[in-house]
Amino acid sequence: MSSTEWTAVCRVEDIPVLGSRRVSRAQGLPVALFRTADERVYALLDRCPHKGGPLSQGIVFGDGVACPLHNWTINLADGRARAPDEGCTPSFACKVEGGRVWLDADELASKGLDLPAPVAGPCSKTAA
Ligand code: FES
Repeated sequence: MSSTEWTAVCRVEDIPVLGSRRVSRAQGLPVALFRTADERVYALLDRCPHKGGPLSQGIVFGDGVACPLHNWTINLADGRARAPDEGCTPSFACKVEGGRVWLDADELASKGLDLPAPVAGPCSKTAA
């Protein structure tokens, strides 16, 4: 069994309460960190399972985030859309230790790289 290698990405207070912070990666879409009112931190790919909206710009309430584009609600813990909507965005292992937020280094480097960026909006990438 290999042990998890963790990467510190920011301090907890860098994430607004009931808000989010984006962590960019060498490849793939950024990861969105979310901080709840009761000080839990979650990490999801910054891409709504519906049409790729930037979840980091959504509204956090309880343990969910409302996508800013069409208002689907996504569970912060597992990335699943709440009924009646269906879909799932990748979630990332995340821990808080010593006032910092840590992500699984392997997941950060490899998870969700196959998902395309939205064609428009703040997450879009301009084609070369
Ligand atoms: S893109 Fe998120 S609800 Fe449509």
